[in-house]
Amino acid sequence: MMQNTWTAVDDYIEQHLIPDNPILQQTLQHTAKRGFPDHLHVAPNQAMLLAMLIQMNGCKRILELGTFAAYSTIAMAQVLPEDGYILTMEGRDTHIALAKENIAASGFSHLIDARLGRAADVIRELPTDTPPFDFIFIDADKQSYPEYLELCLQRSRSGTIIVMDNVIRAAEILNPDNQKPSIVGLRDLFRALEHHPKIASCTALQTVGSKGYDGFALAMVK
Ligand code: DHB
Ligand code: MG
Repeated sequence: MMQNTWTAVDDYIEQHLIPDNPILQQTLQHTAKRGFPDHLHVAPNQAMLLAMLIQMNGCKRILELGTFAAYSTIAMAQVLPEDGYILTMEGRDTHIALAKENIAASGFSHLIDARLGRAADVIRELPTDTPPFDFIFIDADKQSYPEYLELCLQRSRSGTIIVMDNVIRAAEILNPDNQKPSIVGLRDLFRALEHHPKIASCTALQTVGSKGYDGFALAMVK
């Protein structure tokens, strides 16, 4: 009762609760056709959680670190009002090229600003008068999450929601023998979130499903 079951239950959830979404379907198909892996996207039910958090809170300005194929980007754009804006960034040129193809095909290019570059560099170089973001999704290289958190907090307002993907990594965060930079970075992230003076509240949820065993952290800015 492991991965096969988790995938079957995710399929069941998707069939019952997640409406058909031809644009996101097309994004997955195009990504696979280009030969990129499937496991780097968030799952459809996870994308729905992001979209619901955005809608529930009336978020209009979104910052995303780690675009990959722009699957989550497009899912978030679909629930934005016409004056919404998503700044998304990706460190790998092959990924941003793919993302741009998927964004163009989605019909949401007018809401999405997709940039190539290391997220820390892109965020540092934003003009100082850039309005704060309402919703932030951190999904880039895990070793840099502590640095990304600090930079994102500087671009937040009171009430900004920050969601961080892949913070559990099949419980490797608890494995003392695992000293990979990504895992060390996640442990440092948890330490940074703990008692952070700029964070009003924070939690993390373990998740199992079609993408394996991982988890989200959620924070609300003070
Ligand atoms: C990896 C990165 C992700 O953001 C994800 O959701 C799953 C896997 C990875 O780098 O392996
Ligand atoms: Mg991820």
